[in-house]
Amino acid sequence: MSSTTSVHGMWSSRLAFILAATGSAVGLGNIWRFPYTAGEYGGGAFVLVYLICVAGIGIPIMMAEIMLGRRGRQSPINTMKSLAREEGSSPFWQLLGWMGIVSGFLILSFYSVIAGWTLAYVFRAAGGLFTGAEAQMARAMFEALVSDPERLLAWHTIFMIMTGLVVARGVASGLERAVRWLMPALFLLLVVMVFYAAQAGDFTGGFSYMFSPDFARLGSRFGEAVLSAMGQAFFSLSLGMGAIMIYGSYLNSRASIGQNAIIIASMDTLVALLAGLAIFPIVLANGLEAGAGPGLIFQTLPIAFGQMPFGGLFGTVFFVLLVFAAWTSAISLLEPMTAWLVENRGFSRPRAAALGAIAVWLLGIACLLSLNLWSNVTVLGKGFLDLFDYVTANILLPLGGVCIAIFAGWIMRRVSSVDELALGERSFGYRTWLALVRFVAPACVILVFLNAIGLI
Ligand code: PFF
Repeated sequence: MSSTTSVHGMWSSRLAFILAATGSAVGLGNIWRFPYTAGEYGGGAFVLVYLICVAGIGIPIMMAEIMLGRRGRQSPINTMKSLAREEGSSPFWQLLGWMGIVSGFLILSFYSVIAGWTLAYVFRAAGGLFTGAEAQMARAMFEALVSDPERLLAWHTIFMIMTGLVVARGVASGLERAVRWLMPALFLLLVVMVFYAAQAGDFTGGFSYMFSPDFARLGSRFGEAVLSAMGQAFFSLSLGMGAIMIYGSYLNSRASIGQNAIIIASMDTLVALLAGLAIFPIVLANGLEAGAGPGLIFQTLPIAFGQMPFGGLFGTVFFVLLVFAAWTSAISLLEPMTAWLVENRGFSRPRAAALGAIAVWLLGIACLLSLNLWSNVTVLGKGFLDLFDYVTANILLPLGGVCIAIFAGWIMRRVSSVDELALGERSFGYRTWLALVRFVAPACVILVFLNAIGLI
């Protein structure tokens, strides 16, 4: 029988879990990564595949991940080890937890660098540097930042310290309060920006760019686009590395997993779509390049803020909120490795969090240098930051997600999953979930992988 509480603490309520998991899901992935990857693949077709992946693969895997976490009640590595034992399967399943730690490590190393850009932009907005910005100037401002390793290092360091401090204190305490006002505020500000984009940008153009799929335009990049859309779904929902699993391990045994997963995924998707609707109309109206890459929002939003009334104020508040959103996601990336160090190495929580944060910080330096001094150091044609971003989102997270789906659907006995999901074995909800984790999610991910490496 699994235990009913975790040694690392518990959420005070179901709402606390929803807030924390939404805090993990909503972050740079929605506001920075979604628009720029959608832009790289020409909009509509990418967005459509993304939405299908969220609904058909993301939600069922999120349910599986919460379920495994809640049943195991430990760090993902030990959760997988004890669940495999409980279900009479191989201890090799703990490798899934290890893979998650590696993914979290790689993601956080570049995530913190990008969060550093966001921190830097708070001060640029507050200092009035966006006033009257046009395309040329916004680009120059962005390039000045990313080409300066010292500044990047300073911001990256500050962000990692912020993240380490919260994890050192234990995630249950501060997170709930922070996310409770953060989410509504971020949502509201995005709505304001969509209104601004509707009035000052090319809104119809931006809207149809996002919502009229044109698969023909993708041409030979079709497989690549589908892989990226699927990867974006995993990244944005924080799936496949144990972040949601560990948050599930702090959830009490009565809360409905299916309902929670749907709420979290819907909020996450809404934020991504709003971000797209705020950005693409401005991109089109200013003749910017939608496929500009990772700098997209940093070169687009200053133009909007520079021209709108009270833009300095809105800009500052926006980037502050984005820092918070990134922070609540980063915390969930550091938590699994911290919990493992506490469980297996007997470290105190502050020491475990510090060790994890320092290791990530070191790797982050390679990421930030890849933007300037090491720009000619490439592996598979990519610098470290791009490489870690690509490998985690497009390979490691989907792979982790599929293993979670397979474990939940095939290895776990039905009595266990029926018991956890509490939907009733014969219910439509349970049967749909089972079919999705058993067949649909694994088949889709494997087909997309095979296609991307050119085997089909
Ligand atoms: N979901 C976060 C975002 O969209 O910014 C990033 C992330 C957090 C990815 C946690 C993966 C993860 F496990």
